[in-house]
Amino acid sequence: MLVHLPNILDAAQLTLCHQALARAEWIDGRATAGHQSERVKDNQQIPERHPVARQLGDVILTALERNPLFLSAALPLKIVPPLFNRYQGGQTYGDHVDGAIRPITGTPYRVRTDISITVFLTPPQSYDGGELVIDDAYGAQRVKFPAGDAILYPGTSLHRVEPVRRGTRLASFFWIESMVRSDQQRSMLFELDTAIQQLTVGESDAAALLKLTNIYHNLLRQWADT
Ligand code: NI
Repeated sequence: MLVHLPNILDAAQLTLCHQALARAEWIDGRATAGHQSERVKDNQQIPERHPVARQLGDVILTALERNPLFLSAALPLKIVPPLFNRYQGGQTYGDHVDGAIRPITGTPYRVRTDISITVFLTPPQSYDGGELVIDDAYGAQRVKFPAGDAILYPGTSLHRVEPVRRGTRLASFFWIESMVRSDQQRSMLFELDTAIQQLTVGESDAAALLKLTNIYHNLLRQWADT
């Protein structure tokens, strides 16, 4: 399931990101790549646990915690601290898979990467290329969203970032372990919850709505681990 999350960050938060990222330390992105992905990865990143990554990561996580669409779609259990990357001058990240288990550096904790998220930080008209291309069941999806928007996609999917031929592409990326491991089950829960929310704003039969809500929670109880 691919889910577009509009307006995760507002204009003031984006300005804060741009200013902080401009003075941050950037290193070769291969620092966090595995054996397969380091051969196709050519970008820059801020070091994990760098103060700027932590500061901006907190801004993003606080925004997501208040976002009903994110909470409904991801059903988050654990979240990797956000990382930040930069592509320019033809840089690219070819087809790869994200590792299934992600250690959280400096802690004994690990996160199963059920869901990948990219938060776009640069206006799409300011750079050429840089589409995130995700292979899903319905073919390749090409994603290039406005600054402040995010995309959720299954951690299981092959994906790549097209070469950035003009300008600079800044983004945040990280992973989520969901309470519901299965993408198919999570997708059904999301669709059911969305339909219930739509019925709630209309003149719906309250008893029928209550039954649907009961089914949602009973399915979640069946499928979720906390
Ligand atoms: Ni990736």
